[in-house]
Amino acid sequence: MKFFDNTPIGSLVTRTISDIETISDIFSQGLFVIIGELLKLIVVVCMMFYTDWRLALISLIAIPLLLIATAWFKHNIKSAFQDVRKEVSNINTFIQEHIVGMNLVQIFNRERSEFEKFKKINKNHLNANLRSVFYYSIFFPIVEILSALSIGLIIWYGGDAIISGKEVTLGELVAFILYIYMMFRPIRQLADRFNVLQMGIVGSERVFKVLDTKDFIKDDGDVIKDQIQGTVKYKNVKFSYKDDNWVLNGISFSIEKGKKLALVGRTGSGKTSIINLLNRFYDIQSGSITIDGINVEKFKLDNLRKHIAVVQQEVHLFSSSIMQNVILFDENISEEDVLNASKEIGIHDFIMSLPGGYDYIVGERGVTLSTGQRQLISFLRVYLRNPQILILDEATSSIDSYTEQILQSALQKISEGRTTIVIAHRLSTIVDSDKILLLKNGVVLEEGSHSELLKLNGEYKKMYATQHSEEN
Ligand SMILES: Nc1ncnc2c1ncn2[C@@H]1O[C@H](COP(=O)(O)OP(=O)(O)OP(=O)(O)O)[C@@H](O)[C@H]1O
Ligand SMILES: [Mg+2]
Repeated sequence: MKFFDNTPIGSLVTRTISDIETISDIFSQGLFVIIGELLKLIVVVCMMFYTDWRLALISLIAIPLLLIATAWFKHNIKSAFQDVRKEVSNINTFIQEHIVGMNLVQIFNRERSEFEKFKKINKNHLNANLRSVFYYSIFFPIVEILSALSIGLIIWYGGDAIISGKEVTLGELVAFILYIYMMFRPIRQLADRFNVLQMGIVGSERVFKVLDTKDFIKDDGDVIKDQIQGTVKYKNVKFSYKDDNWVLNGISFSIEKGKKLALVGRTGSGKTSIINLLNRFYDIQSGSITIDGINVEKFKLDNLRKHIAVVQQEVHLFSSSIMQNVILFDENISEEDVLNASKEIGIHDFIMSLPGGYDYIVGERGVTLSTGQRQLISFLRVYLRNPQILILDEATSSIDSYTEQILQSALQKISEGRTTIVIAHRLSTIVDSDKILLLKNGVVLEEGSHSELLKLNGEYKKMYATQHSEEN
């Protein structure tokens, strides 16, 4: 998660699609042409030496100069291509971000100014491309000049030799002029294919950078459990997303198997962070988190996550049918299982009320459904997987009381016999919890059952009183 937090989507898309394409171009357009032209070059040079070694050496006088020019060209064109790839990635990042956030752009009338920004990024892209064209426009004439130079030298030396009656014949001289043309043609072609080759090399460097990314989370545990009890214990957990900006500053609590724990606290107090540590989206800096007394780092990662189901604050749906979104393309879950489960937790009627029922195609990211509806679907997702530990990060946005009711009874059903951690914004939904933790600035401020906390006469009571009076 840390990697995806810090890497723009557009940049990753560029690397996985168009940078890969530049690599495939090496094979489809670059490599074979290059091998063919190289062979031509070798044959021509051999023929030159076979015909007359002195004329051959003179024809090759320009080659060192050509090598120098090529080295210069290669160096510059590479940095130009690196810029081109970087700008392509910038364009993709910008477009991706702005299309996803189009509603925001429109709400705040930002179309014109964002378009100006887009033009600027495009301009950078153009400039990077122009720079690469510029190096070509210098390099090709240099190759021309060197080829003309070679021909000049051959005519000068060969002509002189013929006139002074040495071993060179007119036929050989003409042959060498043609050889030189034949030698420089593949060289020009090769330089042209540098384009493809260099692009591919730059592309592959970018792709390897992604491939070489080390996993932040080491999957080197070897505990695999078919069943867990679900006793969760946090001991003195310290955690920060970055450096020592502690988001959690020594959190300790425990929850017995099958019990219900609620986390409450102001926005930004670290509730979502706490639960993201249990299934190891992030690793902690110090302290320990255990399930049934086993440190979560000791579990094999997929086994750990198999036992923990999370309904996230923001539910993500793929642009597919409700059915596919529930089973998440898992072939072990039958449609019948889904129907039964959704009836059990009481959301069958809601799904059937959608056009097409379970075959209703939700838009990308689930935009065609409301927040509450998305949560209901993710409940079903979780319920089908029958996890021992259930985590629910309540959506902040309020939902209508009807959906709320369905959600509550579904939750009741789902959490039966499971260890449940609920993050709640409306305290009315968690009064029946076995334990409530009130978080503030990364520490547990108050802890206890609802009635115990009320007796404390502290922050919780204040929060509860405020909400209670709002509700009445
Ligand atoms: N991916 C992240 N990278 C860096 N900092 C983060 C990240 N996610 C959260 N934070 C920071 O960590 C702190 C706790 O955030 P967290 O999401 O845990 O709060 P929360 O209690 O769940 O809030 P809310 O009630 O609004 O959901 C915040 O200060 C937030 O800015
Ligand atoms: Mg949160």
